[in-house]
Amino acid sequence: MSILPPSPTPSLETPLLRFLKETHARFGPLDEGEVASYIPELGKADPDHFGIAVATTDGHVYETGDTGVPFTIQSISKAIVYALALDTLGAEHVEATIGVEPSGEAFNSIRLRADNKPFNAMVNAGAIACCGLISEATGEAAFEMIRAALGAFAGRTLDVDDAVFQSERATGDRNRAIAYLLRTYGGVRGDVDLILDTYFRQCSILVTARDLAVMGATFANHGVNPVTGQVVASNYAVARTLAVMSSSGMYDFAGEWIYRVGLPAKSGVGGGIVAALPSQLGLGIFSPRLDAHGNSVRGIRTCAAMSESFDLHML
Ligand code: DON
Repeated sequence: MSILPPSPTPSLETPLLRFLKETHARFGPLDEGEVASYIPELGKADPDHFGIAVATTDGHVYETGDTGVPFTIQSISKAIVYALALDTLGAEHVEATIGVEPSGEAFNSIRLRADNKPFNAMVNAGAIACCGLISEATGEAAFEMIRAALGAFAGRTLDVDDAVFQSERATGDRNRAIAYLLRTYGGVRGDVDLILDTYFRQCSILVTARDLAVMGATFANHGVNPVTGQVVASNYAVARTLAVMSSSGMYDFAGEWIYRVGLPAKSGVGGGIVAALPSQLGLGIFSPRLDAHGNSVRGIRTCAAMSESFDLHML
């Protein structure tokens, strides 16, 4: 059953846009949460920015607020890079290297599974292992391949925030520790610095809330970008990535999230959240005030309100 109209007719488009504007007005005054500052450059974000965008699988985008303001994608990149790894290296190789279990721990936890695999690709250890796999397959071209994949999901060429990249690299010792630990178990092979530079750069790619909505809609549309019509990922990769997003996309809040909101999603410390309702829509939110888990406070409220009002819970 279709939740949103197949194409925007005035009578059906208006309620959705009106809902987005009302939600923006409702949660805009919230001043809970803090802008991430563990990467110094991220601390410069404007805490008041707030954008909400919805893209449907028939290619329409509805948006309100600061949906054109660029910010760094951060951990949201992990979802697309996982899909890219599945398609580039083959599921068998990727699944032998990275688990699909929720970790129940913070995104930057150094703990691995009992068999020394990363828990999943949505936490740093798994994402770094993923970068390692893509580097193994493509060498120094890895970052450009990742940037192209993210751009294909968004439907446009994406830039990198070099100041954030430098800041991530300068303060990234925890990720270095994770990468070296992984290398002792063969979870990454090769040049750790090169792999980490790829990871730091991938986190520093600039997107907007609108881009996130289109990325979400591309996941929802089984790997076909509904705006450009380009096939950007296989059905297998999209379905498995959405599965891991459902169980682990919101860090140690993932259980609460899937229980209450009921959509596969991924957040980033830049303040973005992407969510997807298969066959229907993608949701992109940007608001940099984060809760203790590293999730956007207004983003969570917006997705919860949207899920409740439009009955988007998948289960
Ligand atoms: O590894 C890091 O610390 C960041 N570059 C990515 C973190 C991130 O977005 C996790 N978020 N909630």
